[in-house]
Amino acid sequence: MVPAIVLALSGAAVLWWRGQPHTPEALFRARCSACHELRAERVCGFAPALRPAIVDTMRRLHGAAAVIDGAEAAIIKRYLSEELPCP
Ligand code: HEC
Repeated sequence: MVPAIVLALSGAAVLWWRGQPHTPEALFRARCSACHELRAERVCGFAPALRPAIVDTMRRLHGAAAVIDGAEAAIIKRYLSEELPCP
């Protein structure tokens, strides 16, 4: 028989996993709206090659390093410069 603690922990893991963003877009939407509304239109105002610098600025000057770690920042930077749909 599986101990209840194992069941409880795996249930918690599933809930944690479901709550995490799983695509670059979801990560952008979740992390970049932590402090202000999502500013996708603003980001679109910058050329694709310049958009990664916004992520660096948020992390260095505005404290976003506390909510966006290095690996997440890399994913968001790539998303903003290569995939963000702009009008
Ligand atoms: C830890 C809080 C925080 C997080 C997380 C954060 N920002 Fe910001 N952001 C700020 C602050 C503070 C400012 C400057 C004040 C303001 O414009 O609200 C700012 C300003 C901006 C601006 C300038 C807006 C303008 O009107 O000129 C853009 C664009 C922006 N953020 C995009 C992003 C993106 C993209 C992300 C995700 C990578 C992000 N922010 C994550 C705090 C944050």
